[in-house]
Amino acid sequence: MAWPQAGREKSITVAIDWPALRAAAQAAARSAYAPYSRLRVGAAGQVQGDRPGGEDRIVVGCNVENASYGLTLCAECGLVSALHASGGGSLIAVSVVAADGAPLVPCGRCRQLLLEAGGPGLLLDADGGPCELGSLLPSAFTGSDLAARRDPGA
Ligand code: THU
Repeated sequence: MAWPQAGREKSITVAIDWPALRAAAQAAARSAYAPYSRLRVGAAGQVQGDRPGGEDRIVVGCNVENASYGLTLCAECGLVSALHASGGGSLIAVSVVAADGAPLVPCGRCRQLLLEAGGPGLLLDADGGPCELGSLLPSAFTGSDLAARRDPGA
């Protein structure tokens, strides 16, 4: 599977306003529903404009917990849903923070979710500076594994 930004030096060619992205994530965290863990999480992602020279847009999400704990939705789930609900496209940068505004590293499930929405070159906010999602999820399972390994007789 080829992602639109694969091989592209996004940190050089695409302007990412990390403080603004982090602030949008922190604002989203204020809307979180987290009465069980009391860890409010917000996520904000920059979506690449769909035309050359077109404007990027920002999508956000927050975590939503449930009395049936396993049903909890991470903030990144809301973010990816918002991405598709607002027209789709490819994420180029994501910030995930707790209510205090400091970055959180996405959980394993959300790394996989983000991979399909932004590819391995997706930049993730981190304390020491942005890092690529691919470095946090090496050898990932993707749609091409499905295509290559599907049982033709099934
Ligand atoms: N959480 C997220 O929203 N994103 C992550 O990547 C890690 C965990 C939420 C889920 C749950 O509501 C709370 O943090 C505690 O796990």
